Amino acid sequence: MALKVFLTGASTGIGEAFARHYAREGVQLGLVARSGDKLEALAATLSPRPAIYSVDVRDRAGMNTAAADFIQRFGVPDIVIANAGVSKGTLTEHAEDIDVFQQIFDINVIGMVNTFHPFIVPMREAKQGTLVGIASVAGFRGIPGGGAYSASKAAAIKYCESLRVELKRDGIAVVTICPGYIRTPMTAVNRFKMPFIIGVEDAVKRFARAIERKASFAVIPWKMGMAARVLRILPNWLYDLAFTRMPRKPRDDELKKKDAA
Ligand SMILES: NC(=O)c1ccc[n+]([C@@H]2O[C@H](COP(=O)([O-])OP(=O)(O)OC[C@H]3O[C@@H](n4cnc5c(N)ncnc54)[C@H](OP(=O)(O)O)[C@@H]3O)[C@@H](O)[C@H]2O)c1
Repeated sequence: MALKVFLTGASTGIGEAFARHYAREGVQLGLVARSGDKLEALAATLSPRPAIYSVDVRDRAGMNTAAADFIQRFGVPDIVIANAGVSKGTLTEHAEDIDVFQQIFDINVIGMVNTFHPFIVPMREAKQGTLVGIASVAGFRGIPGGGAYSASKAAAIKYCESLRVELKRDGIAVVTICPGYIRTPMTAVNRFKMPFIIGVEDAVKRFARAIERKASFAVIPWKMGMAARVLRILPNWLYDLAFTRMPRKPRDDELKKKDAA
């Protein structure tokens, strides 16, 4: 029987590449994103035709309805990938950035919880399933100018770890993937050098291999994994020295000003 994969953030970047990758393997997909038009256009190019759900991952009821529809039409998915995410530069002294903090946490953390929630009981009954959280190496240390994003991804890493241990005895695997820099619309706005950056097709092939072997934790690409390992053990004084002068991700206002210039 064909594998079934339910995937959020499928309209662009990593999610879109995941959809194309799994469709090539004959997987029955359920695709979630807010942009219904982009999902429609993508679905029209894929076979078997995916089920599409134009839902915001912050909408708990909407996510429950999408999950119930997918299960009713195709059965319990083998793999659920919580990939939807946003990244924006933030600085705490700007009052308007507090709303951005809220948005990033709601999408990157609560959106992940909303994605997994409706599948846990059905997967437990089926005694199988894999939940995949797309976190980030940005969750290892606090990235200056990206406090909201780093904190949200650190939360995602710890949340997935809790879930992994909670569900182990139910036969449900939880895979945490921490991508380094991947070429997608999310990184296209960065004006700084992105070490070890890789293409999205290549990245997704590597992610899919980690998911297939039910890796508990994977940093991809591996070179970024090595760098991240060093980063994690770096003493604070050395980390501060290295990162104080790092270029930071621009805030929305700064991006608009740049675009207007
Ligand atoms: N690219 C990288 O270098 C990199 C590195 C580390 C981690 N990541 C993580 O990988 C994931 C995918 O990133 P990407 O690079 O592919 O970014 P992207 O091209 O900007 O795609 C983000 C996807 O998430 C969806 N999304 C955003 N907010 C949503 C919401 N509220 N509800 C439903 N869907 C939502 C977007 O669709 P709509 O706008 O249509 O809703 C889009 O499909 C993110 O979690 C990101 O943090 C990326």
